[in-house]
Amino acid sequence: MTRRVLNRWWVKAAAQGVLAATPGGGVLGDAVRRRLRGPALAEDYFLSKWHHVEQHLRALGNPGGVALRRTRAIEVGTGWFPIVPLGLAVHGGTVVTIDVGNHTDPQRVRLAMQVLSDLAATGRIRVGSADRLALLRTLLGSPTDTPAPDLLAPLGITLRIGDARDLAGMPETHGANLLVSNNTLEHIPAETMRGIFEEFGRVGSGDARMSHYVDLADHYAGYDPRISEFHFLTLSPRRWRLANNRLGYQNRLQLSDYHRLLAETGWRVTKETLTRRGRGDLDELRLVHPFTTMPVRELLVVKAHLVTRRA
Ligand SMILES: C[S@@+](CC[C@H](N)C(=O)[O-])C[C@H]1O[C@@H](n2cnc3c(N)ncnc32)[C@H](O)[C@@H]1O
Repeated sequence: MTRRVLNRWWVKAAAQGVLAATPGGGVLGDAVRRRLRGPALAEDYFLSKWHHVEQHLRALGNPGGVALRRTRAIEVGTGWFPIVPLGLAVHGGTVVTIDVGNHTDPQRVRLAMQVLSDLAATGRIRVGSADRLALLRTLLGSPTDTPAPDLLAPLGITLRIGDARDLAGMPETHGANLLVSNNTLEHIPAETMRGIFEEFGRVGSGDARMSHYVDLADHYAGYDPRISEFHFLTLSPRRWRLANNRLGYQNRLQLSDYHRLLAETGWRVTKETLTRRGRGDLDELRLVHPFTTMPVRELLVVKAHLVTRRA
């Protein structure tokens, strides 16, 4: 037990668990993260998110760098840096980005805009709308106290705080034809996700597509090099309940779970791009139920990009 307590992932889980159980822990957690990480935005991180922008564009048949026509997108899970909304906006789309939390702020929005502008200037990323890029650069000259929504609105981006399961009060989402998420679905419980897929079905246009990038690996492996991306499949429900918490919640759902939820909510997967690890990565791991009953090939999937249409 002593060895386990000293494991970095467990220290992270325990600290986050205490915060999660504290009233106002979410706001406090955000404040701690702001303090520890500062407002820095590395180019590599930006480019990893830009890759998702390109994946969403490809879901629409756009190779990237080409203007979008009449694209109205909804993103669930804005997070800290609205890189995907900015990426769709500089291709000419309009985007409503929704998050139950209020994580981003003017400084981070500006940083994301600045890095986008710099990378476009050096030709490292391509944008589809020169007009939108020019407008973004103009907005970077706005007074420093400009609120985040005012920096984004002229670019066609609306920031909304709310639960994506209920878009009745957000008429600007109705009729959207592209419904996206990045590194978000794996943090959402299955029944909540069902509600989001159903709501996207209700408000999306007849020809709407969904494009979701899901990271299925154990996120604690990012903090502790001694555990693998499959480590959480070895934790019994009781131990996982202790390790998992609402602030860093991971659902441990596997690819077939996503397929099932999509099918049950009226969506058909038309394309999927999977990243799988080798079989050896599961050697010597003592998996627990229900993972022992699942095909190994499925368990080896660590990243999935799923594109869907209405069934
Ligand atoms: C990991 S973060 C998003 C990361 C961001 N998309 C990115 O790529 O950097 C997941 C976000 O989903 C939000 N979220 C979770 N459930 C939600 C729901 N039902 N509706 C809207 N947002 C939700 C969380 O508040 C969190 O900010």
